Amino acid sequence: MMIALSLVLISGCDMTGFSNNPAKRLIKKRCSGCHSTKRIYGSRRSSKEWEEIVARMIRHGAKATGEERDKIIDYLKKEQTP
Ligand code: HEC
Repeated sequence: MMIALSLVLISGCDMTGFSNNPAKRLIKKRCSGCHSTKRIYGSRRSSKEWEEIVARMIRHGAKATGEERDKIIDYLKKEQTP
């Protein structure tokens, strides 16, 4: 049992489709409460739009510390722009 668990941890859960990327984990944690993360990964926006969207989500009630918000925005700007 422990061995199986360790293997999953070492392999970074790649086989399950979940990423080991800390920013993606944050997005899963902070951004999937009201809608699926498909809403995020399915859209490409400019850097400026991501800043606006994340600010809007926080107004909607998304919980994230300043540091978490910055990490999420940095990730989106890097990976989810056109
Ligand atoms: C408290 C609920 C809530 C949480 C948590 C939340 N959202 Fe949303 N999200 C919404 C609502 C409501 C809408 C639809 C209205 C709107 O676009 O403002 C939405 C829409 C969106 C859209 C589509 C916007 C568009 O213009 O097409 C994106 C992208 C998005 N959310 C990203 C995020 C990200 C990134 C996070 C994490 C930082 C997040 N959401 C967390 C409530 C939430």
